[in-house]
Amino acid sequence: MPDWERRRGGKGTVGMAKVKFLYICRNCGYKTYKWAGYCPACKEDTLVEEIVPASGKKAALPPGGEIALLAEIPSLEEKRLCTGLAELDRVLGGGAVPGSVILVGGDPGIGKSTLLLQAALGLVSRGLPVLYVTGEESLAQLKMRAARLGFRGEALLVLAETEYERIASHIAGGEPRVVVIDSVQTLMKSELGGAPGSIIQLRDVTASLVQLAKKKQITFFLIGHVTKEGILAGPRVLEHMVDCVLNFEGDRYQSFRLLRAAKNRYGSTNELGIFTMEAGGLAEVRNPSALFLSERPAGTPGSAVVPVMEGSRPLLVEVQGLVSQNYGVGIPRRTATGLDANRVSLLVAVLEKRLGLPLYNCDIFINVVGGVKIMEPAVDLAVAVSLVSSYRDRPIEAMTMLIGEVGLTGEVRTVSRLEERLREGIKMGFNRCLLPRGNMRSSSWLNGYSKNELEIIPVSSLAEALDRALA
Ligand code: TYD
Ligand code: MG
Repeated sequence: MPDWERRRGGKGTVGMAKVKFLYICRNCGYKTYKWAGYCPACKEDTLVEEIVPASGKKAALPPGGEIALLAEIPSLEEKRLCTGLAELDRVLGGGAVPGSVILVGGDPGIGKSTLLLQAALGLVSRGLPVLYVTGEESLAQLKMRAARLGFRGEALLVLAETEYERIASHIAGGEPRVVVIDSVQTLMKSELGGAPGSIIQLRDVTASLVQLAKKKQITFFLIGHVTKEGILAGPRVLEHMVDCVLNFEGDRYQSFRLLRAAKNRYGSTNELGIFTMEAGGLAEVRNPSALFLSERPAGTPGSAVVPVMEGSRPLLVEVQGLVSQNYGVGIPRRTATGLDANRVSLLVAVLEKRLGLPLYNCDIFINVVGGVKIMEPAVDLAVAVSLVSSYRDRPIEAMTMLIGEVGLTGEVRTVSRLEERLREGIKMGFNRCLLPRGNMRSSSWLNGYSKNELEIIPVSSLAEALDRALA
C-alpha cells in the first residue's frame, strides 16, 4: 500500500484482513485515527502508526470494586517481600509489595536480567514460588547465567515464552507469588496484531499484567528496554500503569550500577541503590563513599568533596571542576555532568558578578565522579569552590569537605541534615568542614563532635569560603 494512502488514516486492508490505521504518540500516548503529522498534545513529531483489526470487539468491563471500611483494610507493610538484595529492597521502600507491578528500565547490557535473576533466586531461597519468564534468552542461557551467579536455584520456575495468553495460563497453573518478565517488549497477544514491542501490544499486555497482579496478588517485575533517546521504550502510559518505575543506570565501561526509583507508589523516590558488576554478578556496595572517592586525586586543583543526602543515606561525592581559557575559538563551553546545568550557569554568574572572576572567555566543565546525579542545592559551595580552585590553580585544603547552598548575592545558605553528613565525612577520614554559618544557630548537632575529630569552619559568603578553603 502506498505511503500516502496510509497517511490518510482511517480504514484499509492488509492482505485479506480489514484493518484500521491508528496513530499513537510515543511520548504521551495520544491516539488519533487521522494522520496529523505531529502530536497535537505535545506538539512534536512523535506519532507512530499502528495497524489494528477493524472488527473492534467491545472491551469487557474491567472488574468492579467493592466498598470497604478503611480501618479494616489489611496493611501492606508487614507483607512486603524481601529479595535479599538490600539495595534493591531499600529502593523499593523495604521490599516488594504483593500485587504490585514494578517496571525496571535500563540500557541493554547494563545488568537488568542479572539483577532480577539474583532477586528471583533470593526470593526463592526465602521459600517463595517465583516464575522467571524469558522472551530474550533460551532456558539454557538462563541456566548458564544462574550458574555464573553461583546459585543452583532448583526451586525457581522458568519459562521461555512470549505469548501472553500462554504465560497467563502457566501463571494460573503454577501459582507463583512473584513473576519476572524479561522483557515486557517481547511479550505479545497474537489477536492484537502488530509486532511485539509496538505501542498497542505494550499497552495491552501491561494492562493485562497489572490486572492479573491485582487480582491474584502476584508481584510482577517487568524488564523494559530504554530507547536511544534514553526513555523507557513505549509511551509514557506504561509508566502510569505500573506501581513502581526503577531505572538501572551506569557507565557500561565502569563497574558502578545505580538503581533509582523514578516513581514509587509504596515508598520514597529518593533512595539510591548502588551495585558493582562483578564476575559473579551484581555485588551490593555497603560503603559507597569509599567507592566514589577511591580514585580521587587529592591535592589537585578543581577537586572538591561534598557529603550529599541520597534519600535516607549520606554519600560523599567528588565534584571536579575545570576552567580553561578559550582563545576566541567559538562560544565558551559550559558542560555539567551529574549536575543541573542551569544551576551551574547561575553559580558561574555569581562568581563573575560577586567575586569579579572573568569567566566569560573560559570553557567550564564540571562533573560529579561516579555517575551520580545530584539535584540538592547543598552541593553549590563545592561546585563554586572547585571552579575557583581550578581557575586559580590552587588545590582545596587536604581532607576538607564543603557544604552549603549558594544564593544569588554570593551568600552561603543553611542546609538540612548536617549531622548525618558530617558523620559520613568523619567515617571517611575527613577532618575539616566548611559549612553555612546559619547552621550554627541551632547547635544541637554540634555536641557530637570534638574539635580534634572535625574542625568546623562556619562561613557566610562565597568570598569567605574561598579564603578558608583554598590551600
Ligand atoms: P545483563 O543482565 O544481560 O544485561 P541486560 O539484561 O540489562 O541487557 O548483563 C549484561 C552484562 O553483564 C554482560 O555484558 C555481562 C555482564 N555480567 C557480568 O559481568 N557478571 C555476571 O555475573 C553476569 C551474569 C553478567
Ligand atoms: Mg537482559
